[in-house]
Amino acid sequence: MDKLSLARLPTPLEPAPRLSEWVGAEVWVKRDDLTGLGISGNKVRKLEYLLADAQAQGADGVATCGGLQSNHCRATAVAARRLGLDPLLLLRGEAPAEPDGNLLLDTLLDAEVHFCTPEAYASSRGALLEGHRARWAAEGRHLYVIPEGGSNALGCEGYIAAAAEVANEAFDHHIVAVGSGGTLAGLVLGPDIGEVVGIAVCDSARFFVDKVHALAAELGRSPQGAWRVSDDYIGPGYSLAHEPVWQAIREAARREGLFLDPAYTGKALWGLREEVAAGRMGGRVCFWHTGGAFGLFGRGGEL
Ligand SMILES: Cc1ncc(COP(=O)(O)O)c(C=O)c1O
Repeated sequence: MDKLSLARLPTPLEPAPRLSEWVGAEVWVKRDDLTGLGISGNKVRKLEYLLADAQAQGADGVATCGGLQSNHCRATAVAARRLGLDPLLLLRGEAPAEPDGNLLLDTLLDAEVHFCTPEAYASSRGALLEGHRARWAAEGRHLYVIPEGGSNALGCEGYIAAAAEVANEAFDHHIVAVGSGGTLAGLVLGPDIGEVVGIAVCDSARFFVDKVHALAAELGRSPQGAWRVSDDYIGPGYSLAHEPVWQAIREAARREGLFLDPAYTGKALWGLREEVAAGRMGGRVCFWHTGGAFGLFGRGGEL
Protein backbone atom coordinates (compact mmCIF):
# COMPACT_ATOMS: atom_id res chain seq x y z
CA MET A 1 0.00 0.00 0.00
CA ASP A 2 1.56 3.32 -1.07
CA LYS A 3 1.60 6.05 1.54
CA LEU A 4 3.13 9.47 1.98
CA SER A 5 4.94 10.60 5.09
CA LEU A 6 3.02 13.65 6.28
CA ALA A 7 2.62 12.94 10.01
CA ARG A 8 5.09 12.79 12.88
CA LEU A 9 4.74 9.09 13.75
CA PRO A 10 4.53 7.24 16.02
CA THR A 11 2.70 9.79 18.14
CA PRO A 12 3.61 9.93 21.85
CA LEU A 13 1.70 7.86 24.39
CA GLU A 14 1.65 9.81 27.66
CA PRO A 15 0.44 9.06 31.19
CA ALA A 16 -2.19 11.47 32.55
CA PRO A 17 -2.13 11.00 36.33
CA ARG A 18 -4.24 14.02 37.28
CA LEU A 19 -6.83 13.31 34.60
CA SER A 20 -6.86 9.68 35.80
CA GLU A 21 -7.95 10.92 39.25
CA TRP A 22 -10.84 12.83 37.71
CA VAL A 23 -11.88 9.96 35.45
CA GLY A 24 -11.43 7.17 38.02
CA ALA A 25 -9.24 4.91 35.84
CA GLU A 26 -5.60 4.79 34.72
CA VAL A 27 -5.72 7.06 31.66
CA TRP A 28 -3.02 7.26 29.02
CA VAL A 29 -3.29 9.74 26.16
CA LYS A 30 -2.39 8.78 22.60
CA ARG A 31 -1.29 12.15 21.27
CA ASP A 32 -2.64 12.07 17.73
CA ASP A 33 -3.17 15.80 18.17
CA LEU A 34 0.61 15.97 17.72
CA THR A 35 0.75 14.49 14.23
CA GLY A 36 1.76 18.01 13.14
CA LEU A 37 0.72 21.63 13.62
CA GLY A 38 -1.29 22.56 10.51
CA ILE A 39 -2.31 19.03 9.52
CA SER A 40 -2.67 18.05 13.17
CA GLY A 41 -5.12 15.43 14.39
CA ASN A 42 -6.39 12.08 13.21
CA LYS A 43 -7.10 13.04 9.60
CA VAL A 44 -3.47 13.14 8.58
CA ARG A 45 -3.08 9.40 9.08
CA LYS A 46 -5.83 8.87 6.51
CA LEU A 47 -4.47 11.55 4.19
CA GLU A 48 -1.11 9.79 3.96
CA TYR A 49 -2.89 7.04 2.01
CA LEU A 50 -5.52 9.12 0.22
CA LEU A 51 -3.09 11.71 -1.09
CA ALA A 52 -0.61 9.06 -2.21
CA ASP A 53 -3.46 7.79 -4.37
CA ALA A 54 -4.22 11.34 -5.57
CA GLN A 55 -0.59 11.82 -6.61
CA ALA A 56 -0.48 8.41 -8.30
CA GLN A 57 -3.51 9.51 -10.35
CA GLY A 58 -1.73 12.74 -11.35
CA ALA A 59 -4.17 15.02 -9.51
CA ASP A 60 -3.83 18.80 -9.75
CA GLY A 61 -6.11 19.40 -6.82
CA VAL A 62 -8.00 17.70 -4.04
CA ALA A 63 -11.60 18.25 -2.95
CA THR A 64 -13.48 17.24 0.15
CA CYS A 65 -16.43 18.32 2.30
CA GLY A 66 -17.50 18.87 5.90
CA GLY A 67 -18.90 21.34 8.40
CA LEU A 68 -17.92 25.00 8.50
CA GLN A 69 -15.29 24.21 11.15
CA SER A 70 -14.27 20.83 9.73
CA ASN A 71 -10.89 19.62 10.97
CA HIS A 72 -10.80 17.18 8.09
CA CYS A 73 -11.26 19.94 5.51
CA ARG A 74 -8.57 22.10 7.09
CA ALA A 75 -6.13 19.18 7.35
CA THR A 76 -6.81 18.24 3.72
CA ALA A 77 -6.21 21.82 2.59
CA VAL A 78 -2.91 22.05 4.52
CA ALA A 79 -1.70 18.69 3.20
CA ALA A 80 -2.70 19.64 -0.35
CA ARG A 81 -0.68 22.86 -0.16
CA ARG A 82 2.28 21.00 1.26
CA LEU A 83 2.19 18.72 -1.79
CA GLY A 84 1.69 21.51 -4.31
CA LEU A 85 -1.96 20.60 -4.95
CA ASP A 86 -4.91 23.05 -4.99
CA PRO A 87 -7.56 22.44 -2.31
CA LEU A 88 -11.32 22.75 -2.93
CA LEU A 89 -13.68 22.56 0.06
CA LEU A 90 -17.46 22.17 0.16
CA LEU A 91 -18.56 23.48 3.57
CA ARG A 92 -21.97 23.12 5.21
CA GLY A 93 -23.20 26.53 6.35
CA GLU A 94 -23.04 30.21 5.52
CA ALA A 95 -19.92 32.29 5.11
CA PRO A 96 -19.49 34.24 8.38
CA ALA A 97 -18.63 37.93 8.33
CA GLU A 98 -15.19 37.07 9.69
CA PRO A 99 -13.68 33.57 9.52
CA ASP A 100 -12.07 32.00 12.59
CA GLY A 101 -10.78 28.61 13.75
CA ASN A 102 -10.40 26.10 10.93
CA LEU A 103 -12.19 28.36 8.46
CA LEU A 104 -9.62 31.09 9.08
CA LEU A 105 -6.88 28.61 8.16
CA ASP A 106 -8.82 27.44 5.07
CA THR A 107 -8.96 31.09 4.02
CA LEU A 108 -5.27 31.65 4.71
CA LEU A 109 -4.48 28.59 2.60
CA ASP A 110 -6.52 30.16 -0.22
CA ALA A 111 -8.63 27.01 -0.60
CA GLU A 112 -11.43 27.27 -3.19
CA VAL A 113 -14.29 27.30 -0.68
CA HIS A 114 -17.93 26.68 -1.62
CA PHE A 115 -20.63 27.06 1.03
CA CYS A 116 -23.93 25.19 0.88
CA THR A 117 -27.08 24.89 2.96
CA PRO A 118 -27.39 21.96 5.41
CA GLU A 119 -30.21 20.58 3.22
CA ALA A 120 -28.12 20.66 0.03
CA TYR A 121 -25.20 19.17 1.93
CA ALA A 122 -27.28 16.29 3.29
CA SER A 123 -28.95 15.42 -0.01
CA SER A 124 -26.37 16.28 -2.66
CA ARG A 125 -22.82 16.70 -1.34
CA GLY A 126 -21.53 13.87 -3.55
CA ALA A 127 -23.20 15.35 -6.63
CA LEU A 128 -21.92 18.84 -5.79
CA LEU A 129 -18.33 17.59 -5.50
CA GLU A 130 -18.78 15.63 -8.72
CA GLY A 131 -19.93 18.87 -10.39
CA HIS A 132 -16.71 20.59 -9.34
CA ARG A 133 -14.68 17.62 -10.57
CA ALA A 134 -16.40 17.83 -13.97
CA ARG A 135 -15.85 21.61 -14.13
CA TRP A 136 -12.13 21.14 -13.44
CA ALA A 137 -11.97 18.31 -16.01
CA ALA A 138 -13.46 20.65 -18.63
CA GLU A 139 -10.51 22.98 -17.88
CA GLY A 140 -8.08 20.07 -18.30
CA ARG A 141 -7.39 19.72 -14.56
CA HIS A 142 -7.79 16.59 -12.43
CA LEU A 143 -9.58 17.07 -9.11
CA TYR A 144 -9.23 14.10 -6.72
CA VAL A 145 -12.32 13.78 -4.51
CA ILE A 146 -12.07 12.55 -0.89
CA PRO A 147 -15.35 11.62 0.87
CA GLU A 148 -16.50 13.26 4.11
CA GLY A 149 -14.01 12.63 6.92
CA GLY A 150 -11.69 10.70 4.62
CA SER A 151 -13.54 7.62 5.85
CA ASN A 152 -13.30 5.22 2.95
CA ALA A 153 -11.40 1.94 2.86
CA LEU A 154 -8.14 3.59 1.83
CA GLY A 155 -8.36 6.18 4.60
CA CYS A 156 -8.95 3.43 7.17
CA GLU A 157 -5.52 2.03 6.47
CA GLY A 158 -4.05 4.92 8.46
CA TYR A 159 -5.76 3.76 11.66
CA ILE A 160 -5.05 0.09 11.06
CA ALA A 161 -1.42 1.17 11.17
CA ALA A 162 -2.09 3.37 14.24
CA ALA A 163 -3.51 0.40 16.15
CA ALA A 164 -0.21 -1.38 15.66
CA GLU A 165 1.50 1.47 17.61
CA VAL A 166 -0.33 0.47 20.81
CA ALA A 167 -0.68 -3.26 20.25
CA ASN A 168 1.84 -4.15 22.97
CA GLU A 169 0.55 -1.72 25.62
CA ALA A 170 -1.93 -4.08 27.31
CA PHE A 171 -4.81 -1.60 27.48
CA ASP A 172 -8.16 -2.77 28.81
CA HIS A 173 -10.05 -0.18 26.77
CA HIS A 174 -9.58 2.51 24.14
CA ILE A 175 -11.87 5.49 23.75
CA VAL A 176 -12.17 7.52 20.56
CA ALA A 177 -14.56 10.13 19.14
CA VAL A 178 -16.50 9.00 16.07
CA GLY A 179 -17.62 11.50 13.42
CA SER A 180 -17.50 9.64 10.12
CA GLY A 181 -16.32 6.22 11.36
CA GLY A 182 -12.98 5.71 9.64
CA THR A 183 -10.81 6.16 12.73
CA LEU A 184 -12.89 3.71 14.74
CA ALA A 185 -12.97 1.22 11.86
CA GLY A 186 -9.19 1.32 11.49
CA LEU A 187 -8.63 0.77 15.23
CA VAL A 188 -11.04 -2.15 15.24
CA LEU A 189 -9.70 -3.78 12.08
CA GLY A 190 -6.03 -3.76 13.10
CA PRO A 191 -4.53 -6.06 15.72
CA ASP A 192 -6.47 -6.79 18.94
CA ILE A 193 -5.59 -3.83 21.22
CA GLY A 194 -8.26 -4.25 23.94
CA GLU A 195 -11.89 -3.14 23.81
CA VAL A 196 -12.38 -0.14 21.49
CA VAL A 197 -15.25 2.16 22.50
CA GLY A 198 -16.40 4.71 19.94
CA ILE A 199 -18.16 7.84 21.17
CA ALA A 200 -20.54 8.95 18.42
CA VAL A 201 -20.75 12.74 18.06
CA CYS A 202 -23.45 12.96 15.40
CA ASP A 203 -25.19 9.87 13.97
CA SER A 204 -26.55 6.84 15.85
CA ALA A 205 -24.51 3.93 17.19
CA ARG A 206 -26.32 1.67 14.68
CA PHE A 207 -25.18 3.88 11.79
CA PHE A 208 -21.53 3.62 12.82
CA VAL A 209 -21.67 -0.12 13.57
CA ASP A 210 -22.99 -0.64 10.04
CA LYS A 211 -20.29 1.65 8.65
CA VAL A 212 -17.52 -0.31 10.38
CA HIS A 213 -18.92 -3.56 8.98
CA ALA A 214 -19.17 -2.05 5.48
CA LEU A 215 -15.55 -0.83 5.60
CA ALA A 216 -14.43 -4.21 6.98
CA ALA A 217 -16.11 -5.99 4.07
CA GLU A 218 -14.50 -3.62 1.58
CA LEU A 219 -11.08 -4.24 3.13
CA GLY A 220 -11.61 -8.00 3.42
CA ARG A 221 -10.94 -7.82 7.17
CA SER A 222 -12.91 -8.55 10.32
CA PRO A 223 -12.80 -6.97 13.79
CA GLN A 224 -10.05 -8.52 15.89
CA GLY A 225 -11.22 -7.73 19.43
CA ALA A 226 -14.16 -6.37 21.41
CA TRP A 227 -15.64 -3.05 20.29
CA ARG A 228 -18.82 -1.04 20.58
CA VAL A 229 -20.24 2.40 19.85
CA SER A 230 -22.16 4.61 22.28
CA ASP A 231 -24.47 7.39 21.14
CA ASP A 232 -25.19 8.55 24.70
CA TYR A 233 -22.75 11.46 24.48
CA ILE A 234 -23.88 13.47 21.46
CA GLY A 235 -25.21 16.09 23.90
CA PRO A 236 -27.19 18.94 22.32
CA GLY A 237 -26.12 17.96 18.77
CA TYR A 238 -23.21 17.83 16.36
CA SER A 239 -20.58 20.40 17.28
CA LEU A 240 -22.86 21.79 20.03
CA ALA A 241 -21.66 21.46 23.61
CA HIS A 242 -23.32 21.75 27.00
CA GLU A 243 -21.79 22.04 30.48
CA PRO A 244 -20.56 18.40 30.88
CA VAL A 245 -18.54 18.75 27.67
CA TRP A 246 -17.10 22.13 28.67
CA GLN A 247 -16.28 20.71 32.08
CA ALA A 248 -14.31 17.85 30.47
CA ILE A 249 -12.49 20.38 28.28
CA ARG A 250 -11.60 22.50 31.34
CA GLU A 251 -10.41 19.50 33.36
CA ALA A 252 -8.11 18.31 30.55
CA ALA A 253 -6.56 21.77 30.25
CA ARG A 254 -6.20 22.46 33.98
CA ARG A 255 -5.02 19.00 35.00
CA GLU A 256 -2.75 18.06 32.07
CA GLY A 257 -2.32 21.04 29.74
CA LEU A 258 -4.29 19.26 27.01
CA PHE A 259 -6.54 21.16 24.61
CA LEU A 260 -9.70 19.23 23.73
CA ASP A 261 -12.53 20.53 21.52
CA PRO A 262 -16.32 20.84 21.85
CA ALA A 263 -17.25 18.71 18.80
CA TYR A 264 -15.16 15.55 19.28
CA THR A 265 -12.56 15.04 21.98
CA GLY A 266 -14.44 16.91 24.73
CA LYS A 267 -17.35 14.53 24.20
CA ALA A 268 -15.03 11.50 24.21
CA LEU A 269 -13.62 12.54 27.61
CA TRP A 270 -17.06 13.25 29.04
CA GLY A 271 -18.12 9.81 27.76
CA LEU A 272 -15.08 8.13 29.28
CA ARG A 273 -15.80 9.53 32.74
CA GLU A 274 -19.45 8.50 32.55
CA GLU A 275 -18.60 4.99 31.30
CA VAL A 276 -16.16 4.53 34.19
CA ALA A 277 -18.74 5.84 36.69
CA ALA A 278 -21.27 3.34 35.29
CA GLY A 279 -18.77 0.48 35.70
CA ARG A 280 -18.54 -0.23 31.98
CA MET A 281 -14.89 0.82 31.70
CA GLY A 282 -11.93 0.80 34.08
CA GLY A 283 -8.36 -0.39 34.53
CA ARG A 284 -5.86 0.85 31.98
CA VAL A 285 -7.48 3.08 29.36
CA CYS A 286 -6.10 4.72 26.22
CA PHE A 287 -7.75 8.04 25.36
CA TRP A 288 -7.17 8.80 21.67
CA HIS A 289 -6.61 12.55 21.45
CA THR A 290 -7.60 13.03 17.83
CA GLY A 291 -6.92 16.79 17.71
CA GLY A 292 -9.49 19.46 16.90
CA ALA A 293 -8.17 22.32 19.07
CA PHE A 294 -8.80 24.90 16.33
CA GLY A 295 -12.50 24.22 16.98
CA LEU A 296 -12.13 26.00 20.33
CA PHE A 297 -11.65 29.35 18.65
CA GLY A 298 -14.84 31.33 18.34
CA ARG A 299 -16.36 29.44 21.32
CA GLY A 300 -14.98 31.66 24.08
CA GLY A 301 -18.43 32.93 25.10
CA GLU A 302 -19.66 29.41 25.87
CA LEU A 303 -16.45 28.40 27.64
C1 LIG B 1 -10.81 16.06 16.21
C2 LIG B 1 -11.53 14.91 15.62
N1 LIG B 1 -11.66 13.80 16.36
C3 LIG B 1 -12.33 12.72 15.89
C4 LIG B 1 -12.91 12.72 14.65
C5 LIG B 1 -13.65 11.51 14.20
O1 LIG B 1 -12.96 10.78 13.25
P1 LIG B 1 -13.76 9.97 12.14
O2 LIG B 1 -14.33 10.98 11.20
O3 LIG B 1 -12.74 9.11 11.51
O4 LIG B 1 -14.83 9.21 12.81
C6 LIG B 1 -12.80 13.87 13.83
C7 LIG B 1 -13.43 13.97 12.49
O5 LIG B 1 -14.53 13.67 12.23
C8 LIG B 1 -12.09 14.99 14.33
O6 LIG B 1 -11.96 16.11 13.60
